[in-house]
This record gives sequence, structure tokens and C-alpha cells, in this order.
Amino acid sequence: MSQHLTWDPLMIQRYNRAGPRYTSYPTAVEFTPVTSDARERSALAAESDKPLSLYFHIPFCRHVCYYCGCNKIVTKHKDRAEAYLAELYREIDLKAALVNRSRPVEQLHLGGGTPTYLSDDQLQQLMMYVRQKFTLLDNETCDYSIEIDPRELGSDTLRTLRELGFNRVSFGVQDLNERVQIAVNRVQPEAMIDAVMRDARRLGFRSINIDLIYGLPHQTRSSFADTLERIIDMRPDRLSIFNYAHLPERFMPQRRINAEDLPDAPEKLAIFGTAITTLDEAGYQYIGMDHFALPDDELAIAQQRGKLHRNFQGYTTHGNCDLIGFGVSSISQIGSSFFQNQTDLNDWRQQLNSERLPTMREVSSTTDDLIRKSVIMSLLCHLTVRFADLDRDFAIDSRSYLNDSIRQLNEMQQDGLVSVTNDDITITNAGRLMVRQACMAFDAYRDNTETLKFSKAI
Ligand SMILES: C[S@@+](CC[C@H](N)C(=O)[O-])C[C@H]1O[C@@H](n2cnc3c(N)ncnc32)[C@H](O)[C@@H]1O
Ligand code: SF4
Repeated sequence: MSQHLTWDPLMIQRYNRAGPRYTSYPTAVEFTPVTSDARERSALAAESDKPLSLYFHIPFCRHVCYYCGCNKIVTKHKDRAEAYLAELYREIDLKAALVNRSRPVEQLHLGGGTPTYLSDDQLQQLMMYVRQKFTLLDNETCDYSIEIDPRELGSDTLRTLRELGFNRVSFGVQDLNERVQIAVNRVQPEAMIDAVMRDARRLGFRSINIDLIYGLPHQTRSSFADTLERIIDMRPDRLSIFNYAHLPERFMPQRRINAEDLPDAPEKLAIFGTAITTLDEAGYQYIGMDHFALPDDELAIAQQRGKLHRNFQGYTTHGNCDLIGFGVSSISQIGSSFFQNQTDLNDWRQQLNSERLPTMREVSSTTDDLIRKSVIMSLLCHLTVRFADLDRDFAIDSRSYLNDSIRQLNEMQQDGLVSVTNDDITITNAGRLMVRQACMAFDAYRDNTETLKFSKAI
């Protein structure tokens, strides 16, 4: 796979349609409301020796960032965390009682909101509780990670996390320009970020990630290039460069962002173009869908070896795991079924208080879903899918089974973005930034979903 991306703004504009990010297929908008937790219970209890990936959602933040589209609760009342943890333990009890205890936890992630809203003691209690109920590993083959807002980090927190078994961190930065930071209500000096990066390195965290966002108010090509240059100097192993979609009707905090301060569409595209070129020159490899990594990072290596996967945690090397989510709004992927927890804190709590799993929505994959998922994930992770693999895995003639979808790729083929041969479908270098448009051709639900539910690719 060539590591250099082709940057063609005209082509990108032509294909820049709203579409899913495919952290699952079927995507979360296809999940349907449940009236009982029976299916999730039996999925958790099913005989399996697959390793586990555990996700814990800690929804609290002390301050609101105006761009934020995450599921969070902004509060300065720290005692809310204590009550939340008590309920989270109840969910852990209910789920752990169903799952075979000998299954090793290869991956664990604390996301949010801001997981370091919890005190060091609370983080310690939580991890001890999880250790009592599940088989956590203490070797470096596992990935135990946490999302960190550098502003919410006690002087000892990183060391505590390392001692608790965490070996990966992701820092939310977004932008280093002060004017941008003020406009989004997230002021954090570069020195603070530099210091936490150094501490994380010194403590032996690996695959350190930084989140940035492009398309924020007052950003320009040159301001973002400056941010990137300073970030590259810190040499994070991974970078996520998210696209800001301004949807104030959907996300309340975004109403505090002045639409006139946002870069216009051509400038936003140029900012992304500059980011791609700058990162390429700095030696970062484009993994796909907002993610970049240094060539010696596990994600880049897994991609080169054809061993990359994609799930609700984004790109991962642990695609063989069943994913169990805990906490408000979290999603589980068990076998071929998906379950989402209640997204409202009170509903989540009420179900747990009546000893029910806090399931809100679910979907079980059909064989057609599994075939299409296999195509979509293979394109997103490895930019190619081989008909022979699909024929073998699903006992079908995949070329003719997928004929209607393949026909929808005609335009992309003519534009040199995709190639279809008798053996495979491959995204060309020129098509890499339009890969989700190619995936949409294989999405059987696409016509039924409102495009408004999704953001544009760029
Ligand atoms: C849960 S936060 C990370 C942890 C912590 N709360 C923080 O902000 O540092 C996840 C990431 O989502 C990204 N994000 C949040 N809202 C976004 C939006 N509207 N558009 C693009 N990215 C967004 C940010 O890059 C943020 O770092
Ligand atoms: S970006 Fe992070 S810190 Fe800011 S409001 Fe969202 S979840 Fe909270």
C-alpha cells in the first residue's frame, strides 16, 4: 500500500456527501428499541472463548467545549461521579455474572465525557472493581487506554493510571491557537500539553494519541499549519484529525459558536489538505477516516499486515474480541449482535435499579449484514476486498451476490477512485479520502437513512 495520499480538492468536493463513519454495520441508526433485556442477557451468557474488550463511559465534564458532540454531562458537582460509579458497579455486577470469567480482557477503554473527572481514588476503585469481576491481563500485549483532557489531570494521575495497568493514553487538544481556543471555550496552553506528553512518555505509555479538530471558528490554513507543526514536534504516535460539523440544532453547546467565525467550505477543505500534506511530510501514515499513525505504531503495522479492524472504538488491532460496554450510552458488540445502553442518565439508572440490563436498542445481524459488513470493513481497513475470501467465508458467489452494489461504483471507477477486477475491489490512492462513499454502495440501509443523521466526509 502506498503511503502517500493524492490530494485532489475538486474530486473531493464532488464526492463530499454525508455518510456513516461505519464504526459498525449495520450502523447505530438501524438499531431498534427493545422492550426487554433478554437478547443481551443471552448474548453475554453464550458459550464463547473469544477475548473481551471492555468500554466504560464516564460522561462528566467540568467545562463545556462549544463544539462538542459527545454524550456528556457538564457539572462541577463532583459528588455526581460517586453516585454514577455506584450504578456503574451494579451494571458491572449484572453483566459479569453472565459472562464466562475465564475470558481474558485484551482491550479496555475509558471514554467520555472526561474519565479523569474521576479522582485518582475513584479511578483506583473502579479498576479494582473491574479486576475482581473480569480477568484483566498484566502484559504489554493488551491495550488498556483512557481519554484525557490535559486540563483535568492531577499531578499524580498519569502515574496512578500506569500503576493501574493503563498503557495507552489519548489527549484531547483540538487546536493550539489561542483565538480558536477562546472561541470554543477550551483554553489550554501548549506548555501544559507538552508537559503531559513528556510525563506520559517517561511513564512508559505507548501509542500516545492526540485529538485535533479542523473546521473550528477562526481557524485558517496557516493557523492550523502552525498548530500541526507544534504538535508534530511533540511526536505523538497517533493523531486523530476530526472534522467539525456545525449542527447547532442537534448539539446545544454549538449554538454558542458564531457561524460567521467558521472557515468557509473552500478554506476548510484547504485546511484539511494542508494537514494531509504536512503529516505526510512529517512521516505519518494515513490509516483512514481521520486517523494517522507513525509507521512503527501498532495500527500502522497491523494495516500493513492486513490485521486491522474497525469497531466502536475506531481502528483497532483487537477485532477478535467481543466488546462489552458499560455506562450511559455505551455500545456492546457481542457475536453478531449490537446493543446500546440507555442514552439518558435517568433511564439508564432506572433500569439498573430494577435489576435489568440498561439496554435501549439492539440489532442482530442477518447473513446479508455480515457479508456487507465484511466488504465495508475490509475496504475501510485494507482498501481492498477479495471475492475469493468472501466466497470462502460465506459460501456464496460474491461477485454476482454484490452485483447491484458493484454497479453503483461505476462513477468512482471512471474517476479512477476504485478499481474492480474479477478478483477484487480496490480503493486506489486517489480514492482513499472517498473510501466511505465506496462503502455506501454496499450499505443496504443507505436509502432508508436520512443523510442528515451523518456528517460529510470532509
Ligand atoms: C470524549 S472527547 C476526549 C476526552 C476529553 N473529554 C477531551 O475533550 O479532552 C473525544 C474527542 O471527540 C472530538 N470531538 C468532540 N466533539 C466533536 C465535534 N463536534 N466534531 C469533531 N470532533 C469532536 C474531540 O477531538 C475530542 O477530543
Ligand atoms: S470535548 Fe471533551 S471536555 Fe469538551 S465537552 Fe466534549 S467531552 Fe467534555
